[in-house]
Amino acid sequence: MLNLGILISGRGSNMESILKSIKTKKIPINPAIVISNKIDAKGLAIAKKMGVNVEVIESKNFKGTRSEFDEKIMEILVKYGVTPRNGLVCLAGFMRIISPEFVKKYKNKIINIHPALLPAFPGLNSQKQALDYGAKYSGCTVHFVDAGMDTGAIIIQSIVEIKNKDTEKSLSKKILKEEHRIYPQAVSLFARKKIKVLGRKTIIS
Ligand code: GRF
Repeated sequence: MLNLGILISGRGSNMESILKSIKTKKIPINPAIVISNKIDAKGLAIAKKMGVNVEVIESKNFKGTRSEFDEKIMEILVKYGVTPRNGLVCLAGFMRIISPEFVKKYKNKIINIHPALLPAFPGLNSQKQALDYGAKYSGCTVHFVDAGMDTGAIIIQSIVEIKNKDTEKSLSKKILKEEHRIYPQAVSLFARKKIKVLGRKTIIS
């Protein structure tokens, strides 16, 4: 079975939805490790409670380069069996840019969830970006991570309507609900080897 590593920085609600789905929907993947770059990430307690190993590498006082930090992350992943051959890495609110070395080593093995319909509104505060732009629809995207910012091949997207009365908070809530639905779906597709990557396109079987 594949081993799953989840990288978080905060709340960890996507992590939680993935871990719950693995149990209830019997997704054939072993939740091997949750790694946080922040000691006070709320998700750490959730993971522990769900019986999943956790490790913290604090980025705040880390003296080395981004590549050196990611080297540490990769060491932990490998320690728990999340290897490029036999693993999947999910970024779930992990607020760091991944080094090119990490991306290269784990090519098409790292996926991320973004709270907008990529390629619209990449980067931070995507919900606010969508509102400020006057978009009528937004949503979320699960995609492979490549060397760019939110540019990797798209796996699943889900759409939500933006109403006149929507605020950043209400839109974020609507989108988050969809995130919690499609991220576990993407993990399941990956675990069942249903995703084929052809350049920047994915074919789901
Ligand atoms: C989510 O909105 C996700 O799309 C974005 O960061 C947020 C993380 O939330 N990348 P959580 O930690 O999973 O609750």
